[in-house]
Amino acid sequence: MSREWDAATYDRVADPQARWGADVIARLDPRGVGRVLDAGCGSGRVTEQLLERLPEAHVVALDGSGRMLEEAARRLAPFGSRVSFVCADLREPVLLDEPVDAIVSTATFHWVPDHAGLFRRLAAVLRPGGQLVAQYGGRGNIASVVRAVAELGDPIPGRWTYAEPEDERRCLADAGFVDVQAWLHPEPTSFEAGESFETFLATVVLREHVALLPEQDRAAFVHAVASRLPGPFLDYVRLNVVARRG
Ligand SMILES: C[S@@+](CC[C@H](N)C(=O)[O-])C[C@H]1O[C@@H](n2cnc3c(N)ncnc32)[C@H](O)[C@@H]1O
Repeated sequence: MSREWDAATYDRVADPQARWGADVIARLDPRGVGRVLDAGCGSGRVTEQLLERLPEAHVVALDGSGRMLEEAARRLAPFGSRVSFVCADLREPVLLDEPVDAIVSTATFHWVPDHAGLFRRLAAVLRPGGQLVAQYGGRGNIASVVRAVAELGDPIPGRWTYAEPEDERRCLADAGFVDVQAWLHPEPTSFEAGESFETFLATVVLREHVALLPEQDRAAFVHAVASRLPGPFLDYVRLNVVARRG
């Protein structure tokens, strides 16, 4: 499965993710945070907000997609040496030069299976007392899309890890996190009808499904999914996590 994204299009269409990212960053306690990891920085729209919120901090922007990192490097160039980039897969041990004081992650962990392992790998690069503040798709996220894709014969069923808060609390505690909070909140999101909604679906939600299809079948597949939805509307459910490494 390709790790690549259409980063320029993502950067253009990911307004919901950028908006939710602002709420996540607001939960970070800035005290004592000199070095932050953005785990799954994408095209850097949320990373940019993080750099603005913490004007003295250095941000390590990590992503598995080289194209996303190129896009992020362009966007974040004005921040100069305050940001560095790491191309890495969160399914493997995270290798950083030094530990970080905080980890922020938005709209990423549902793409990563085995959260017990993920939280252990993140704990390993977080200093004791350091914060983890994250948001990603949780139980029930885009259920209407999951259903529509299943009706069309999903070739990668269960691709997304839409976890339960209780499971996340247990996995975080097992990985050595304390003061753990995990909760779901619905984030129903409307889009402009037509091409822009289908571009959003193809670039973000259905990226991997589309990548499996021959070029000439992609638009029809996205259109078939969109036609099975009640409208240009996604029933997003976000899972929020706030914790500290013990
Ligand atoms: C929906 S984007 C979110 C980007 C950004 N945080 C935002 O909120 O706009 C998800 C990002 O997670 C990255 N990602 C997904 N799985 C990953 C993995 N196993 N390792 C590293 N990055 C991953 C993707 O490359 C992509 O850039």
